[in-house]
Amino acid sequence: MCGIIGIVSKNLFSSEDLLRALKRLEYRGYDSFGYATNSGILEKDIGEIRLLSSNECTTAIGHTRWATHGGVTKLNAHPHADCKNEIFIVHNGIIENYLELKEKLRGHVFRSETDSEVIAHYLEEKLKTKPMREAIIDFINEAEGTFAVVVLQKSGQQLYAFKRDSPLVLGLAGDANIFASDIYAFSDKTNKAVFFEDDEFAEVSDSSYAFYNKSGNMLDKKIYEFEWKEEESEMKFDHYMLKEIYEQPAVAERLINSLRTVQADKLENLVSLIKNSRRIIFIAVGTSYHASLLGVYFLHKAGVEAQTIIASEFKDYANVDENTLVIAITQSGETMDLIDAVKHAKRKGAKIASLVNVPYSTVQRLSDLSLQIEAGQEICVAATKSFMNQVILLLSLAREFGYDVNPEKISEVMRSVFGKEEKIKSIARSLSASKDLYIIGRGLSYPVSREIALKLKEISYVHAEGMMGGELKHGTLALIEEGTPVIALINGNPHIISNAMEVKARGGRIIAVTNQKNLSVAKDLIEIDADNDAAFAIAAIIAGQLLTYYIAKEKDLPIDKPRNLAKSVTVK
Ligand code: F6R
Repeated sequence: MCGIIGIVSKNLFSSEDLLRALKRLEYRGYDSFGYATNSGILEKDIGEIRLLSSNECTTAIGHTRWATHGGVTKLNAHPHADCKNEIFIVHNGIIENYLELKEKLRGHVFRSETDSEVIAHYLEEKLKTKPMREAIIDFINEAEGTFAVVVLQKSGQQLYAFKRDSPLVLGLAGDANIFASDIYAFSDKTNKAVFFEDDEFAEVSDSSYAFYNKSGNMLDKKIYEFEWKEEESEMKFDHYMLKEIYEQPAVAERLINSLRTVQADKLENLVSLIKNSRRIIFIAVGTSYHASLLGVYFLHKAGVEAQTIIASEFKDYANVDENTLVIAITQSGETMDLIDAVKHAKRKGAKIASLVNVPYSTVQRLSDLSLQIEAGQEICVAATKSFMNQVILLLSLAREFGYDVNPEKISEVMRSVFGKEEKIKSIARSLSASKDLYIIGRGLSYPVSREIALKLKEISYVHAEGMMGGELKHGTLALIEEGTPVIALINGNPHIISNAMEVKARGGRIIAVTNQKNLSVAKDLIEIDADNDAAFAIAAIIAGQLLTYYIAKEKDLPIDKPRNLAKSVTVK
């Protein structure tokens, strides 16, 4: 969370250029933004990234914030400066001992309520007696918590950066060196990157860079060349969410093709890792967790025992040893709770495999084996196409063990749901005033119900609960009143029809997403042509995504950037 950037260039660049690069990180947080240049200009404000004044410089830092410590105010926006406005910093993470550090900086004038500001004053204090490199080493040794920081000095021609746990990468663009939270910030300028590991720092000028460890020893770092599918510059949709929903058949085909070609060996290796492990545990959070639930189901149907645990609870709910294979599922590869769980599993001797979208992300670099989900850049904060490709990859994996579903036919099923858009729109209109919504499913449709509920909460701001159809009568049924909307995912399981009937008998309004003909339990039907469970699940996900989108559109909500959220969750 929070996007940080620092650019040192051989050529003058404008504030507009800087903001354009910062905008590419906006999905990491959008509470406030700001930048500082080496001519001493400091601009910041709350709200959308926009031009505050036109300047030119060769060295600058920028920030887009997802608030943790301190409210969403201009004063709390980054960059933060020292007392004399000569040292500027941008920070992603949380300095857990900031109050203790602040205590030691008596006499310094603090202007914000943030933990981050302490970094600027700490460096100011240290620079009274030592050079920047040593000041940074002191900070790394004394600070507790997580941080990715870029430091700029007024009139300086260099930038400094250091990190622990929060992501940080240096892009080598020939005429410029660019620090950023992720490769997307500079992927339009270069595909060459050097990734920071924990407690490393770097010093860059427009033509050179050097990395050091926290003892001050220079490091020989590998330059990675990454491939990354950019989104098309021409935007034909009102929102990225809709664009990304529509991209799903094509990105699924791209993934399936890669599993047959460039990723075939990796898929085979994952199969043998699974065969050679005594215990298989998926870990993930949010939407990726729902994909993992589907993965457990698919593998179970193929006779492979697996379980899944939400990453933040992993340590408390699973025993891990050298016979365990942990499979991390993540779009960003930077989710802090997931990284924490992966590191824990590694310490216990487990093998780590991962399914990741962003190449060379931290989870990928921590893994013994990593497969790309090939979803390409996903701009909307809500995961849609990345979720879909996680599911397709898991389906393809289960197929290797004999699960009898052909992922190649599934893109047709996906496309068929787009034909239901008008129907979905009209149901969305009728649901736009609903405060509560329930989604019920059984078997494979249970994770789908959870995923639809999550989308409804984050994008449509509707309180939604996705649950097992069988669980309804054990408590939640008490909430069903005349007209309460319940989406039932009806895929041939007779018990889910009974569950829907139980709701209807209490006055609830059933909206059925179904592949059954002549269903009498609901007047509102989203009919899906899917002849097997997996195809039904995938089609139902798309129906849920479209329903969510159109409810949010009806309510005029900020669909691509829902309030309080960020795409890459790099705090615990
Ligand atoms: C919801 C959503 C989140 C993410 C979650 C995990 O639409 O996008 O729930 O799925 O934050 O993120 P990754 O997959 O990057 O680990």
